[in-house]
Amino acid sequence: MSEAPSSPSSAAGPAPGANSTPGARIIAITSGKGGVGKTFVSANLAAALTRRGQRVLVLDADLGLANLDVVLNLYPKITLHDVFTGKANLDDAVITAPGGFSVLLAGSGMVEYSRLTPEVRNQFLSVIQTLAPRYDVILLDTGAGISDVVLFSVSLASEVLIVATPEPTSLTDAYAAIKVLAMQQKRQHVRLIVNQAARPGDGRAIASQLQQVLDRFVTTESGKPMRLMHLSDIPVDPSVREAVMRRQLLLLQMPGCPAALAISQLAGKVEEALLHRAP
Ligand SMILES: Nc1ncnc2c1ncn2[C@@H]1O[C@H](COP(=O)(O)OP(=O)(O)OP(=O)(O)O)[C@@H](O)[C@H]1O
Ligand SMILES: [Mg+2]
Repeated sequence: MSEAPSSPSSAAGPAPGANSTPGARIIAITSGKGGVGKTFVSANLAAALTRRGQRVLVLDADLGLANLDVVLNLYPKITLHDVFTGKANLDDAVITAPGGFSVLLAGSGMVEYSRLTPEVRNQFLSVIQTLAPRYDVILLDTGAGISDVVLFSVSLASEVLIVATPEPTSLTDAYAAIKVLAMQQKRQHVRLIVNQAARPGDGRAIASQLQQVLDRFVTTESGKPMRLMHLSDIPVDPSVREAVMRRQLLLLQMPGCPAALAISQLAGKVEEALLHRAP
């Protein structure tokens, strides 16, 4: 697959220029509709990439409604909020998750992060710039939808993985989000993960349906249609819910279940497509 370079910019202002940040590849995991599996994918993909030898940080970019801590059963004393408000050092806020990767947790219920202010933008950007040289990959577990805060966190990434389920509402919302990313962030492509797929082949069919709509209605700045690259499918699997209920990482607790195997495969694809560096 050819790699079209993307230039991140934000709905709320000029490109923060994360692409020029040295170090980690920054990948946003986002969705149109909420509850489709972004946090599940972020945490387990991080564990799978760590197992492959990558240095990984997951940043809970769902400021205000964060729940990565719940999934990972972590009780952070210091959150991104404390860093933003100058109460704590960034280094003290980065902790190691089960699975061996680093996480930076946001803390939940902070109404001040429901809208994007210049302070939040600058703080966020400075955190990313400080941490990027220390990692191979930073995964941004973003909120759902197309609010300013979500679009800003996505704009920090050079690659976007859209998570969608086969439900019609998830697909129409995914389409809307992709359209905004093409128009406001001038992206030429995004990658699709179909989560909770009922049958093998579901994802491919969904990707081609969505691509047809994009071909008709969404033209990128280059004049070409927005390209949707189908990356992976993750099957619907009762073990996912079980792991979440027990607040355990699926990949560690049930590595042989279908969803965990799919995540391991996804990690291989992410590594190959996005993390290969010249030796
Ligand atoms: N492959 C799967 N099979 C079965 N259930 C799944 C699967 N993926 C996710 N789920 C269920 O969906 C729930 C929501 O997942 P998750 O919290 O990762 O979504 P999210 O997109 O991060 O939500 P939000 O938009 O609120 O941040 C999980 O707790 C789990 O119960
Ligand atoms: Mg989430």
